[in-house]
Amino acid sequence: DQEDMHNRPKVFVTRNIPSAGLAKIQAATTCEVWPERMPPSPDVLAEKASGCDGVLTLLSDRIDADFFDAVGSQLKVVSNFAVGYNNIDVAEATKRGIVVGNTPDVLTDATADIAVALMLAAGRCLREGLENVVRKEWQTWEPMEFIGQDLSGKTLGIVGMGRIGHATAKRCHFGWGMNVIYTSRSDKPESDSELGASRVTFEQLLADSDFISVHTDLNPETSKMFDSAAFSGMKSNAVFVNTARGGVVDQDALQKALTNGEIFAAGLDVTEPEPLPDDSPLRDLPNCFILPHIGSGTVKSRDAMAEIAADNLLAGLEGKPLRHQVTA
Ligand code: DGY
Repeated sequence: DQEDMHNRPKVFVTRNIPSAGLAKIQAATTCEVWPERMPPSPDVLAEKASGCDGVLTLLSDRIDADFFDAVGSQLKVVSNFAVGYNNIDVAEATKRGIVVGNTPDVLTDATADIAVALMLAAGRCLREGLENVVRKEWQTWEPMEFIGQDLSGKTLGIVGMGRIGHATAKRCHFGWGMNVIYTSRSDKPESDSELGASRVTFEQLLADSDFISVHTDLNPETSKMFDSAAFSGMKSNAVFVNTARGGVVDQDALQKALTNGEIFAAGLDVTEPEPLPDDSPLRDLPNCFILPHIGSGTVKSRDAMAEIAADNLLAGLEGKPLRHQVTA
């Protein structure tokens, strides 16, 4: 009834998300959903969220002190529709007593699948092959063209052996018998025993890997960790794959490494910024295979992300523990 509607918490959801989550939110709150394909500008976002008790955000929404100032001190919870939360100033939120939620686990397999897809796509020259067909340049079977790299028996370097890193390594170890090495903030005994993996230094990983797959979060320490020194430390047959965050790569350095043959190819599901500008030279490199950030893009993963994000939002509104809460 009217009074019930009046007492409901007010929330803003910054994009249309699967009904598996949205329906729960709509049933329990007074909710406005941003209906457009493109994200609201920071000003519009702050205006829409102003007076709200909770917000559900995407990785394209910047949530910082200015946002919190504009929205007001009644805000209790920011629920991010993603496992990554580098778009949110969590320390600032915590200082203000605002809880922040994310959606881990449910996109691990989907993202690991895209990492492997990129290893194959970049390693086996799938862009060149596809363009050859689409541009009607396919003349004959060519013994010396579209020659790529084997995965079988090669060494895979995982940078960041968390959930997604482990799932990627597992596919490669059991699928292609790859030897797995990794860098990580701590030892990963499970990866060592299940996959025969070993933790090495960053320099050693660069020097020994035939494929390098990035699974670290983006933070001040990992920002641009793949710079020109890192690329020149890699093998010339190396295939570099990133499904984490574009900000870990110095893209000018990557472009040079791909152009000069310092490395063989790259497969990117993430760039900085997103979208990659139309005139970015990376777009034109035949040995650079780029996807528009689709790692979590399966029916099951996106439905589960929506459900967790909704549960996090509603728990935060009630002052209860979130299913997945992040800390600075
Ligand atoms: C995440 O969850 O952090 C991905 O980048 C989008 O699903």
